[in-house]
Amino acid sequence: MNDTVRHGAIPAGIDRRHFLRFGVMGLGGAALLAACGEGKGIGGGIGASSGTASAAGLPAAPAAHNAATAKKYAGTTVATDIPGFGTEMSTTQQLAKQFEAETGIKIKTVPLPKSTSDAYAADQRLLAANQASPDVLLVDLIYPPALAQYLLDLKDHLTEAEIALSYPNLIAVNTIDSRLVAYPWYGGFGRLYYRTDLLEKYGFSKPPATWPELTSMATKIQAGEQKANKAFAGYVFQGNAYEGLTCNALEWVASYNGGTFIDGPTVSVDNPKAIAALKLAQSWVGKISPTGVTTFTEDETHSAFGAGNAAFMRNWEYAEDLQKGSNVAGKFAVAPLPAGTGPGATTAAAAGGWAVAINKNSQNAEAAVEWLRYLTSPEAQAYRAINSADVPAQPAVAAMAEVQAALPALKQKVVPFARPTQVGAQYNEASTIIFQAVNAMLRGSDVESGVKKMAGDLRELIG
Ligand code: GLC
Repeated sequence: MNDTVRHGAIPAGIDRRHFLRFGVMGLGGAALLAACGEGKGIGGGIGASSGTASAAGLPAAPAAHNAATAKKYAGTTVATDIPGFGTEMSTTQQLAKQFEAETGIKIKTVPLPKSTSDAYAADQRLLAANQASPDVLLVDLIYPPALAQYLLDLKDHLTEAEIALSYPNLIAVNTIDSRLVAYPWYGGFGRLYYRTDLLEKYGFSKPPATWPELTSMATKIQAGEQKANKAFAGYVFQGNAYEGLTCNALEWVASYNGGTFIDGPTVSVDNPKAIAALKLAQSWVGKISPTGVTTFTEDETHSAFGAGNAAFMRNWEYAEDLQKGSNVAGKFAVAPLPAGTGPGATTAAAAGGWAVAINKNSQNAEAAVEWLRYLTSPEAQAYRAINSADVPAQPAVAAMAEVQAALPALKQKVVPFARPTQVGAQYNEASTIIFQAVNAMLRGSDVESGVKKMAGDLRELIG
């Protein structure tokens, strides 16, 4: 345990991870509340715009509410990270165009690898070398402890009212040693996507409730579909050696009540339930999942499922964008991930999400703050929810009828699990131990000895 955990913004006596897990439920919870008609909207404005044309066939982005102030910095260039999956990058680009047109501030997008692990490594290198660019960074919710030292305290730049628009638990995730180092942008959970037409064709009336059920349904559908389509797979997920695999593996292990690799201060992964979950996942590769799944990130799963080459896919909410114009539009639905089996088994969804931060060496901090303010505004969050299917990081936005309609997953049960971020700045090293070990298992190495070694390496890391 490091200082961030002990002295962070979490009330005394509450373990950081437990707090996060409990808190993140707020995202789904508020959405559920709103689905029952109790939520409050933010009123008007999503479509409101000066009418900037869309290159990507997207509707125009909303007007910048802060344009009058931001114009003071006309002529400044703000370099900004722009990671994202599916249509996430084009909605961000669309917002950038709108902001540029209204304020005269130029937004220069910095290409980053799509894998959050690689994007983190790239940002880390630049920041550790005291580079002034990028001015604005997009930060995955697992990294604030490690990046905090390089980021501005946004409490000095945003109003209390602006900060209060977000979920308090997400503000807590991004508050390190009382400094708000990033402002929440969107959240998300692991979800199961399934082909409604194929379930019907093969005589299944509902999506699988457990992983063994998914295994047998995928086996049957794959055998049938492969007769005409050799590329067809039963189940695709993120099996590459990167952060996405830590999320998948967490879901498998937690769903079997096998813990979350490290629970509180204790490495817990060397237990029979975790081993059973990982053995089942190993058994999929080369059977219901292509052998290449060990190199798949979100993008490859999204392409395979979108092309009509998979019956089931694990992904985040953004993949709902396949309802617009893909081969499977109108032929799929979303469900909670399957549960494990045995005592304490549950459906389990990794909690994900991103926030916007400003480089403390930025030479354009004022303009960068205005860009951050626009990008994370309720209007922009609603725009991204509707056009990129991202779960807003503000309850009032998640409650909007248009957002609810665009994100059917919001109405579904979610049992969120936080990754073991209680290790603070060491999280990336811990996760690297986890995803490398699990990737080796998916490639066929022995699960029991692999779990033992993973546990030993994690103990050595966190001491
Ligand atoms: C999504 C999640 C993020 C997670 C990543 C893993 O971007 O929002 O939290 O780390 O996927 O690939």
